[in-house]
Amino acid sequence: MSAPKPPRLFLSPPHMGGREEARVAEAFASNYIAPLGPQVDAFEAAFAEHTGIAHCLAVASGTAAMHLALRGLGVGKGDVVVASSLTFIGSVSPAVQLGAEAVFIDASPDTWNMDPDRLREALAALTGEGRRIKAVIPTDLYGQCADYARILDICAPYGAPVVADCAESVGARCGGGLEADDTNRHAGAWPGLAASIFSFNGNKIITTSGGGMLASEDAELIAKARKLSQQARENAPHYEHLELGYNYRLSNILAAVGLGQLEVLEARVAKRRQIFRWYREALGHAPGLSFMPEAATGKANRWLTVLLVDAQSFGVSPESLRLALEAENIEARPLWKPMHLQPVFAGCRAFGGSVAEDLFLRGLCLPSGTAMTREDVARVSRVILSAARKQA
Ligand SMILES: Cc1ncc(COP(=O)(O)O)c(C=O)c1O
Repeated sequence: MSAPKPPRLFLSPPHMGGREEARVAEAFASNYIAPLGPQVDAFEAAFAEHTGIAHCLAVASGTAAMHLALRGLGVGKGDVVVASSLTFIGSVSPAVQLGAEAVFIDASPDTWNMDPDRLREALAALTGEGRRIKAVIPTDLYGQCADYARILDICAPYGAPVVADCAESVGARCGGGLEADDTNRHAGAWPGLAASIFSFNGNKIITTSGGGMLASEDAELIAKARKLSQQARENAPHYEHLELGYNYRLSNILAAVGLGQLEVLEARVAKRRQIFRWYREALGHAPGLSFMPEAATGKANRWLTVLLVDAQSFGVSPESLRLALEAENIEARPLWKPMHLQPVFAGCRAFGGSVAEDLFLRGLCLPSGTAMTREDVARVSRVILSAARKQA
């Protein structure tokens, strides 16, 4: 008889704080089993309070939030939308679905986020060709804020609005360095951003099982998005429509889960950062292994701990490590495959690309769920180190 498998360690499973069920029970008691209701209102207000972004709209997903942001900015056929290449497809698909042309920007080797120098090059080249840049979408990769200050400076002369993709960076900070100070802002709360989107998908640092938030200082943009998210219904007793919208609202039940999750967000950030430190202690000394760098201009939430493997000096490729982990019932995952390499975007332009390609080939996302113990991290680390020993 074979030995029982050790319990599965998932990449980033949901982690309830304990008060979510009571919040859901409140929603049931009031019978607001609907896509609108007091829990949605309270979740939007609590998120606005937590992030410091004035206007928030709770929606069905981060992708829906991005779609609404771009509709709000008037993105359409023939426009250009410039986005990070090293990202998840939900960052980019809404722009293309609206008829825009996506142009991808390489990652910076220092932060892995959108490279501001490449962005500058792209905006100059595209504008020189007479193209209109309708939006720039930097992703806060794996929970680290992009360099909003530089990106906004570069975009300003072109009048290109910036939409921050903060799907992965809920709870992260930008601008203040590692110590809290008054320039320390929540991800997506940087002055001058047109809008920011967040995801509460099941694998994120806090979750509503599925859900998202669109946030902006621009009350009009959020009001427009709110209307579009409810099938663009006009203000009339019957159903009157002057334009087409979507059914994108967040369920009131899921908003109740979100309220409970928001209460534990800061604790979740602290734990993800702790998990990162445990990995670094266990693996940081091994030749050929390093980790995603942290920018000096913020405090990442370390949504996922990302390992960079130099196969030559470590002796094992990231894919062999992934398989060795899988054999021990541990889930690990390659980095996002850059958008400029995705078959669905074949023919799209990219400015640079080699940094993102190299990170994709050498990176591995390690289990980072906040219910993990130090022993869980040690278990993952042992498998990684022993895979190298077996190879030696
Ligand atoms: C960078 C990024 N953008 C957008 C999304 C889309 O969010 P959702 O899955 O909630 O639609 C995600 C995650 O899922 C993401 O990681």
